[in-house]
Amino acid sequence: MRHSSDKSSLQDDLEYVILTEEQIRKRIAEMAREIERDYAEKELVLVSILKGGVIFLADLTREISIPHSYDMVGASSYGSQMSSSGQVTITKDVTVLLKNKYVLLVEDIYDTGATLKVVKDLLEVHSPRSVEICALLWKEKKKRHHEVSIKYIGFKIPDVFVVGYGLDYNEKYRNLRCIGVLKKEIYQ
Ligand code: PRP
Repeated sequence: MRHSSDKSSLQDDLEYVILTEEQIRKRIAEMAREIERDYAEKELVLVSILKGGVIFLADLTREISIPHSYDMVGASSYGSQMSSSGQVTITKDVTVLLKNKYVLLVEDIYDTGATLKVVKDLLEVHSPRSVEICALLWKEKKKRHHEVSIKYIGFKIPDVFVVGYGLDYNEKYRNLRCIGVLKKEIYQ
């Protein structure tokens, strides 16, 4: 009982839902079909970015039916703020061997591009055959710190601060199954 009431209070903090659990699930299944087709017969490694990307990784890896491995990189840029500082700190490198592998970087959101740029550069140092990017959310922005080419895009969303499905505000809301916009009184 305590668990379910905690969850509903998290949901109550949302002004509105942008993407429901069902919409996210369906789109991830579609993306997995594309990835299976593009990486058939290739040594695929999914690399996710801690901490936000792990929920997407957990769902995507189980939807992909071709053999592959996965790993995680630690990176952080937001701190406790609602907009990116542009400064990205790497806290953990991969341990799986990436040399000559086909790497797919699995990220929850492409916002200013700072995180993806730094992590992609880090992965290139391991001499993989290729590094492509799969982002669940692609934020519409006039200007980014870095323009990065994204091979698979889940959803294009407006330039608003979103939480849920791995995305946090002060480390909260990552466990929401949907993605939404917080009520103003939560952060003002
Ligand atoms: C968030 C998000 C992405 C990144 C995107 O992570 O999960 O990794 O910011 O923003 P960018 O395109 O402007 O770089 P954050 O740095 O907050 O760390 P977290 O995943 O641990 O919450």
